[in-house]
Amino acid sequence: MGQAEKTPLKKEALQAEVYNMLLLRTPHNKILEVKKLPTLPEVAYRLLDLLSGEPEISELEEVIRYDQSLTAKILSVANSAYSGSQKEIHSLERAIVLLGIREVSEIAFSICVFSVFKPLRNVGNFNLKEFWLHSIATGITARIIAQALDAKNEDKFFTMGLLHDIGRVLLLHLFPEKFEEILLHQEKSGRSLLVEEMECGLAHTWMGRWLLKRWGLPEDFILAARFHHNPFYKERFLMEPAIIKLADMTVHNLNLVNLPGGQKGNPEPLLYKLGFTEDLYQAILEHLSVIRESLKEAWSQVL
Ligand SMILES: [Fe+2]
Ligand SMILES: [Fe+2]
Repeated sequence: MGQAEKTPLKKEALQAEVYNMLLLRTPHNKILEVKKLPTLPEVAYRLLDLLSGEPEISELEEVIRYDQSLTAKILSVANSAYSGSQKEIHSLERAIVLLGIREVSEIAFSICVFSVFKPLRNVGNFNLKEFWLHSIATGITARIIAQALDAKNEDKFFTMGLLHDIGRVLLLHLFPEKFEEILLHQEKSGRSLLVEEMECGLAHTWMGRWLLKRWGLPEDFILAARFHHNPFYKERFLMEPAIIKLADMTVHNLNLVNLPGGQKGNPEPLLYKLGFTEDLYQAILEHLSVIRESLKEAWSQVL
């Protein structure tokens, strides 16, 4: 039997083994021994570092310019955003000046995350591009909400929002057939995708928690992935997951992106808990309605 014929069998056996271990609640480190998980590129960690402070243009340029494909993508975003201008943008520094330090850091970090899962294909009615647009929209909305609440380190909320549903692509990566089955069930039942995942013991919330832990990301990112559908833990109300939940719900309520099994909901209890006024939330909704098309158009280029 040739090598090409052996590989799929080996892969299936490996997936079955990991799946059984997950169902049996085997300690995570055991699962990691069996299946090599996707890793986050080094440049992403450096970008995260920059996003937690107030970087200079030169610092950001220094991090990005060693990665040729990242540099090319940032230049293409800048050229497309400023397509009306006479001169083509060839320099990374100029692109950062025009687009903004925070914007370029966020775009670059997002490109790194997308690249990790690039080989994946859509399954059933799950469209990866729409999935990432949902993640980006949740990140942008979470940052806006955090700004309105005067939360500390508001910039980290974009990244947290971007990664909140990462467990779902991990599900697709590890168990594509199982995920397709879950999607089919969801389509028939009309229930939320999370409920269908939970019935199979594969909730994206704890798969996401597991992956972010493995990637060594900060604790609040891990908590946001784990608790963004229910921001209560041991009778404590968790602020960051609650902001991500509100952002996620807002993105679904406004139909910013078309995703199967998304959870629309009434934001009032969360607004109350977070100390939001109705007027302030209304202003955020109006702002999102204004930027919805440009948001999709701008981000579609890097997906
Ligand atoms: Fe989620
Ligand atoms: Fe979500």
